[in-house]
Amino acid sequence: MAQRTFSIIKPDAVRKGYTGAVLAAIEQAGFKILAIKKASISKEQAEGFYYVHKERPFFNDLCTFMSSGPLFLMVLEKDNAIADLRKLMGATNPANAEEGTIRRKFAGSIQENAIHGSDAEETAAFEIGYWFAGYELI
Ligand code: CMP
Repeated sequence: MAQRTFSIIKPDAVRKGYTGAVLAAIEQAGFKILAIKKASISKEQAEGFYYVHKERPFFNDLCTFMSSGPLFLMVLEKDNAIADLRKLMGATNPANAEEGTIRRKFAGSIQENAIHGSDAEETAAFEIGYWFAGYELI
């Protein structure tokens, strides 16, 4: 059954000019892009988005990084979208990401790792609602 997930092309990938290549990989893997917008987010917006990580040692650096430049916020749809996007992304740390994955190809470090994807249905619902209104999902 068609499922929705939320994704971000992170500031490192946008800065390096990988936006088009990441979008091509997503479309070639069969995802429909229901919504996409370019944004420069504040550190406070990043903190709200990543609140589940607020006790982690990397939280402050992560939120500084996510607010360091433009990024692309997206809602994607396909059968099994959540698991399939995470497979396409590869491991959080690009050093451990499989050959052919987005992070293996485009990520520079565990923090500046090119792309985000929701990890479960509840997180996808929260993350989509954090950045998009229902009428924007087409
Ligand atoms: P993301 O999938 O967006 O979810 C949390 C983010 O925290 C992760 O990708 C990385 O960008 C960042 N991060 C930085 N350090 C770590 C770490 N040691 N473990 C997991 N995530 C990290």
